[in-house]
Amino acid sequence: MFKPELNLAKQIIDKYGTPIYVTDTQTIKDKSSLIKNAFSNLNMKIFYAIKANFNPHIVKIIKNSGIYGIDAVSVNEIILALELGYTSEQIIFTPSNPSDDDMLQVGKLNILQNLGSISEIKRFGKMFKGCEISIRICPELGAGESKKVTTGNIESKFGLSISEIDKVKTICNKYNIKIVGIHSHIGSGFYNSKIFKQSVTAVCNIAKKFKYIKFLDFGGGFGVQYNPNNIPINLNDFATSIKYTINKFTKSYKHPIELRIEPGKFLVSQSTVLLTRITTIKEKGNITFVGVDSGFHNLIRPAMYNAYHHIINLSKQNKNKKLVQVVGNVCESGDIFNKKIKLNDPQEGDILAILTTGGYGSSMSSNYNLHNFAPEVLVTDRKFKLIKKKQTFEQIMSNFIDYK
Ligand code: LLP
Repeated sequence: MFKPELNLAKQIIDKYGTPIYVTDTQTIKDKSSLIKNAFSNLNMKIFYAIKANFNPHIVKIIKNSGIYGIDAVSVNEIILALELGYTSEQIIFTPSNPSDDDMLQVGKLNILQNLGSISEIKRFGKMFKGCEISIRICPELGAGESKKVTTGNIESKFGLSISEIDKVKTICNKYNIKIVGIHSHIGSGFYNSKIFKQSVTAVCNIAKKFKYIKFLDFGGGFGVQYNPNNIPINLNDFATSIKYTINKFTKSYKHPIELRIEPGKFLVSQSTVLLTRITTIKEKGNITFVGVDSGFHNLIRPAMYNAYHHIINLSKQNKNKKLVQVVGNVCESGDIFNKKIKLNDPQEGDILAILTTGGYGSSMSSNYNLHNFAPEVLVTDRKFKLIKKKQTFEQIMSNFIDYK
């Protein structure tokens, strides 16, 4: 888990100010190796879920670390992946409620679409008769860090229910569609290989029903260690747990089968910290509020998912810990980074590092309260460079027409 030394943090802040995201190249390389090695016996192809962090400099590190492809959810994510040199075979499009225009644009780019509803399959089939697609199934078992990111359960909006599979076959016959992939993503942030294994079994069971399967895709969601006191997941266990099921399936299937996973947060989360400065300290209702110059416009995970992000006071090495609530500069009571965290002797002006913010941190930021996006810096071999500029007021306002 990356935490910059105070000296380095000071140099970065002296140059670019706070709040600022700081990402460590080596951590991304290490996570890439870890997941590649864990699944190497299964010959797994890894597609990075670019939604987790689409900073092109970060995606390039992932690409150069040997992660094979990109899991994209929007046309813009695909355009970026193509710009970064991925080929159409290295990209899979798993949209959520795509419009006809989305499917048309992506189809014209020859990128495989992973569709999760009868309506989408029909609409796509009408546009591209004789096409190949992959289908996203709902394995009817979900897992995730919060309800909002649990996707494999029957109540979630994602995927085709198992009872719809016969209907899918009829439609595919009608439009001469070949189903070449079966996909499932049970949710974001699971820590237990048991449920992952169950979803792999569900995918294999559906795949048996189709003749032209080329790949099975088990999605992403591998849990991140957000709290340094927790034990990280053991990816080898995940790989071992599915080996038997996969071998059984691949041996019985007539054609060779490729295996895929789509990690997002696992690859990037621990590589990044959000540095923010304490502006205001106050005591109220038995709580010590430590107010900082960032808020949920920069990092929405705690407010949105009740997610835990560990925070350290980089400015103080002493052990004079104080229990505080770290809150942001957005005008909402829910703008809380951490409700109960012990910080070393917090004082106004100190620099805090909010850890494990590389996944769904910057990529989910907004301009709420007309705050700027935070700039981003990349650290490689103890040297740093700016990889995303600080937004200006003029840039934020530039899309509003004739307002002056
Ligand atoms: N594949 C599909 C089809 C997905 O929908 C997702 C994530 C992934 C792969 C990658 O999942 P990951 O390995 O990153 O868990 N904003 C939330 C997470 C949303 C995940 C959405 N889909 C968060 O901050 O926790």
